[in-house]
Amino acid sequence: MIVLKTGRELEIMREACRISAGALQIAGKAVEPGVSTAEINNLAEQYILSQGGIPSFKNYQGYPATACISINNEVIHGIPNAKRILKAGDIVSIDLGAKYGGYHGDNAATFACGDISDEAKRLIETTKESLYEGIKKAVSGGRVGDIGNAVQSYVEARGYSVVRKFVGHGVGSELHESPEIPNYGTAGRGVRLMPGMTIAIEPMINAGGSDVKILPDGWTVLTSDGSLSAHFEHTVAITSSGPKILTLI
Ligand code: MF3
Ligand code: CO
Repeated sequence: MIVLKTGRELEIMREACRISAGALQIAGKAVEPGVSTAEINNLAEQYILSQGGIPSFKNYQGYPATACISINNEVIHGIPNAKRILKAGDIVSIDLGAKYGGYHGDNAATFACGDISDEAKRLIETTKESLYEGIKKAVSGGRVGDIGNAVQSYVEARGYSVVRKFVGHGVGSELHESPEIPNYGTAGRGVRLMPGMTIAIEPMINAGGSDVKILPDGWTVLTSDGSLSAHFEHTVAITSSGPKILTLI
């Protein structure tokens, strides 16, 4: 079931999303050589709590932390760890959400740790741009396949691949709601988009092949070929006046 949100609900969601965006900004600014992923997680958590929010991911299906922090060939769902120390040249994907007033905000971004390679920079820029290509298609009357097709065409034209095993999603009073929002697809196909829908668009893009595997910790998703991966995500509302990105500060 797709839950449409009223104007009032969107206002509350905007607050949840503002908190999520603030926490992601703080986490991203903390990315530097020598810092542990646990420290970054704790900064994000403290910020969310200080704003009256609740970390959306903590305890979600048993997930143990506020943020997912995934480095280099890790795609998503890396578990923060005090022994995991960032080093110069790493690319660091941080994904987190906050619940406020009964609604979730969800967002992610990939950050550079110190100086990174030109190839890593290009992957990050392309993934970020692909998110905006997808957001442009989040319009009333369009279809879910328009979003995935826009993301897929943009990244494949640049030699990268879309992770297929994980997808974006509706978001609202539940972190994951219908419909699924794949980062691949056919324009003109899929669920029709309507005002009041709120969706998380979140391209996960690999420098190599699209295949992924999961570590024995049951969470961490890695590229099968060891290639770098990047991830960007915004929570977006579909309105009669076009897409509204809610996860902005
Ligand atoms: N990162 C996922 C998303 O953006 C949700 C995290 S699942 C969790 O949809 F279990 F790690 F919380
Ligand atoms: Co999400």
